[in-house]
Amino acid sequence: MSTKSVYSAAIIGTGRIGFTLGFDKKREKPASHTMALLENKAIQIVAGCDTFEDNLNLWKRYVSRFNRAVETYSTADKLLSAQKYDIIVIAVNEDSHLETALKAIAAKPRLIILEKPVALNTADGDKIVEAAEKYKVPVLVNHERRFSEDYKIAKNYIDGGDLGKVMCVNARLDSGLRVYTKEEEATGAYSLLHDGTHLVDIVMFLLENSSGEKAVLKNMKLTNITKDEEKADVVRNVTAHFTSKKCPDVNISISGRSRYFGFEVDVIGTEGRIKIGNGIFEFTKRTQSKLYTGFYSLAKDKKIRRPKKTRYFSNMVQNAVDFLNGNAELKSTLQTGMNTLTVLEAIKQQLAK
Ligand SMILES: NC(=O)c1ccc[n+]([C@@H]2O[C@H](COP(=O)([O-])OP(=O)(O)OC[C@H]3O[C@@H](n4cnc5c(N)ncnc54)[C@H](O)[C@@H]3O)[C@@H](O)[C@H]2O)c1
Repeated sequence: MSTKSVYSAAIIGTGRIGFTLGFDKKREKPASHTMALLENKAIQIVAGCDTFEDNLNLWKRYVSRFNRAVETYSTADKLLSAQKYDIIVIAVNEDSHLETALKAIAAKPRLIILEKPVALNTADGDKIVEAAEKYKVPVLVNHERRFSEDYKIAKNYIDGGDLGKVMCVNARLDSGLRVYTKEEEATGAYSLLHDGTHLVDIVMFLLENSSGEKAVLKNMKLTNITKDEEKADVVRNVTAHFTSKKCPDVNISISGRSRYFGFEVDVIGTEGRIKIGNGIFEFTKRTQSKLYTGFYSLAKDKKIRRPKKTRYFSNMVQNAVDFLNGNAELKSTLQTGMNTLTVLEAIKQQLAK
């Protein structure tokens, strides 16, 4: 693969994650593909596409400030037939991932950055994998926490043995969105898929020995299912239990009854404990107890500093550039994305019974 000083990039889908989340004042910047690509000096955005004209016009006005020659297209077909691109970002809604990914792969860019989840289900995901193999197009899946400095510290802590033996992982996602209903299979508008993909993926990241490892979470058993009081086909709570090589007791719980958004992973080891999530970063370690003589308890591990910036988006884009330069492997791949989708599908199949 030849190294270039500037890689051309096109974005398909200029909605929230593609573009406008970048304007959210509270989010760490950059917070969208457009802003993250614009910040990276090794990339030039040359084209964008959205079927919704208003989004596309706003996008063009903004990106033209950085590249006056940027082109816009109303369909992916038009964008893909206009020229070749080094990088194609796919940030369309879940129900268009398959169709858009297959077209983009056939256009043979050097790299595709595909928004999570890989697809609506594993059957669609398999078609994307097949096409990517056929056309030899690498795909980076934007499970963003794999790139985030705080989660990287947690993984190093676990892998470096600071936690001792990992005994238990409890991961939780709380939101107001239904966990699952068959009715939304075709849109993917349920939290098991929508944000559950992030939760399952990050648990696998923390527990996997390498990113190529398949079946990181095994022996799935649902330990709790609660349905909606009024609509029996709507799942409101689920807890799935797994085992993994590194941990015998992994619990993933998703609730769709909350009036807040919560995302957290609690990793309990024989020597310490990590709580990490949205707004959460706590590392505690076995220390002589302040309360009882001869006892040990957990106290803040002062060696660990919370990173000022997680760089979740810029690290992802930099990984793409490093990969294209031949200096790094992709840190979130179609393989890890499909591992995640396979776990979600197994849970879904039990819920659909
Ligand atoms: N990584 C993250 O944290 C994160 C956050 C938000 C969304 N997402 C994912 O990103 C994707 C998009 O979500 P969003 O919240 O930005 O949605 P959105 O609706 O805000 O934006 C999607 C855009 O894609 C356009 N679009 C849809 N189908 C298209 C097609 N066939 N061709 C061209 N344009 C098309 C829509 O008009 C819209 O502007 C989803 O897969 C979602 O799960 C990821």
